[in-house]
Amino acid sequence: MRVVVHTDDADTWCQALARRLPDAEVVTSEAAGDAPADYLAVWKPPASLFEGQSRLKGIVNLGAGVDALLHNPGLPRGVPIVKLRDAGMAPLMADYVRFGVLYFQRDFDRYFAQQTHGTWREQPLIDKADWPIGVLGLGAIGAHVARALAEDGFPVHGWSRSAKSLDGVTCHHGEAGLSELLAGVRTLVTLLPDTDSTRGIVNAGTLSRLPEGATLINPGRGSLIDEAALLDALGPGDKEGRLRGALLDAFTEEPLPRDNPLWAHPRVRITPHMAAPTPVRDAADQVAELIRALDAGEDVETIDPGAGY
Ligand code: GLV
Repeated sequence: MRVVVHTDDADTWCQALARRLPDAEVVTSEAAGDAPADYLAVWKPPASLFEGQSRLKGIVNLGAGVDALLHNPGLPRGVPIVKLRDAGMAPLMADYVRFGVLYFQRDFDRYFAQQTHGTWREQPLIDKADWPIGVLGLGAIGAHVARALAEDGFPVHGWSRSAKSLDGVTCHHGEAGLSELLAGVRTLVTLLPDTDSTRGIVNAGTLSRLPEGATLINPGRGSLIDEAALLDALGPGDKEGRLRGALLDAFTEEPLPRDNPLWAHPRVRITPHMAAPTPVRDAADQVAELIRALDAGEDVETIDPGAGY
């Protein structure tokens, strides 16, 4: 069996997978040249990688979001696609979101703004119990994040398209559920996949339903947010708008272009899509297991290209 790996740091991945799949030949796409693969383990591969793949039995997406792969013009039809589920990313994402929530709930945004004027003023403390958080998207990562925040003592509301239930989290679903959730949260966290039905889900209408002074954390996908509506809700930089601030890790165009107004907005914090990088050690266990199960013809949860996740 030949497994061809295409990602940044492909050598590390090859070593990790070769140790876990001792009977397989595991090579980087560069080393494979024209030799066809049985399985591809990829993150954002070039379309050319799929050319001449005459015996491909499965594609493993080395990340949680399959949007880039599904938009790849070279992607063959009919080959099963599997993706990483949690695989060590969920705890990293929970840390990122915790940072963002505390940044607003403990007023670090205001303290750092005060620092620029040399102002020494303590803000009134708001209890975690009075800081409801909404998490849009309850897949493996969203559900983990929602539970982690609930365990920290925040009231947490989760939203998914179809009904779900999660211990310690008030779950909402569908259009009506989204409106219900938006009306009561102080921080909105977006962890949905990029699909036809989630694109622009945070738009002028959604933002206007959030309470005055709400905050946004988007470590999911840039396409979830209508950027113009976000800038509008934030208002001018010199005074807090309806939306108090945003912590953003994902953008429709990455790297975020230098002239994008989000860079300069004083109440926007920007990170370069680093919230939850795939940790090779945890993820390699899952990738090896997926390849083994696919090869043994076992039932594996595959991506539905029509649904987009
Ligand atoms: C990163 O964005 C991922 O989808 O894993």
